[in-house]
Amino acid sequence: MNRATKKKAWQKLLYLDMICLMLLLGGFSYQKMGQQIRETGSMQQNAQGDSGEQENTDENVETEKEKKKIALTFDDGPHPVYTPEMLDLLKEKDVKATFFLLGQQVEKYPDIVKRMNEEGHLIGNHSYKHEQLSKLSSVQACSQVNRTNELIYSITGKYPEYLRPPFGDWKDDLDCEVNMVEVLWDVDTLDWSSQNKDKVVSKVMKNIEEGDIILMHDSYESTVQATAEIIDRLQEDGYEFVTVDELIFD
Ligand code: NI
Repeated sequence: MNRATKKKAWQKLLYLDMICLMLLLGGFSYQKMGQQIRETGSMQQNAQGDSGEQENTDENVETEKEKKKIALTFDDGPHPVYTPEMLDLLKEKDVKATFFLLGQQVEKYPDIVKRMNEEGHLIGNHSYKHEQLSKLSSVQACSQVNRTNELIYSITGKYPEYLRPPFGDWKDDLDCEVNMVEVLWDVDTLDWSSQNKDKVVSKVMKNIEEGDIILMHDSYESTVQATAEIIDRLQEDGYEFVTVDELIFD
């Protein structure tokens, strides 16, 4: 092979290479286009799933910024003394909260449950007598949940849709699936342990973020006092108190 033929062969090879490269690039960008279409498709799906965040107008974003939603939740009630005090306070401040009730307390204090419902608070289920559901048989665990649902229904005419299992411990293989939404928490005030107003307030103020669910117990004077201060301070900081259904499905 002389120099000229060598060059010609090389050019031919280069030419072929370029065709290959163009085909490859063509194929690649076609693939990329397909991918983008798929991504757009799934983005639209996400937007629908995530409360249409992508479609927010500036105005909507502005409104959401102004209202940072959080939820106060109270477990283990109703308590004969402190729950009515808490309801008085919430009424005075025009705040709605969520109460996860124990069936055995509901049985004792139906009037308080009735008032809770009439005043617009959300009522959830906290089992019948605060046993750790995962340590019970499925039948026993279900009966803890169902019995409490029936008791609440007999007073309010509404079946609770939200369940907070005692100790935040749900039983995985529970086959009585009652179609309830499990609600845990973001900020644990440990109010039952400290029973100290200032400690409860500072737990909340140090940890609170938009969208948080605060865990408290309407069984202590200190919690009622702490709640009063928490509402005032967080409202000043631009927070709005809502019931947990609004946080979960908003
Ligand atoms: Ni509890």
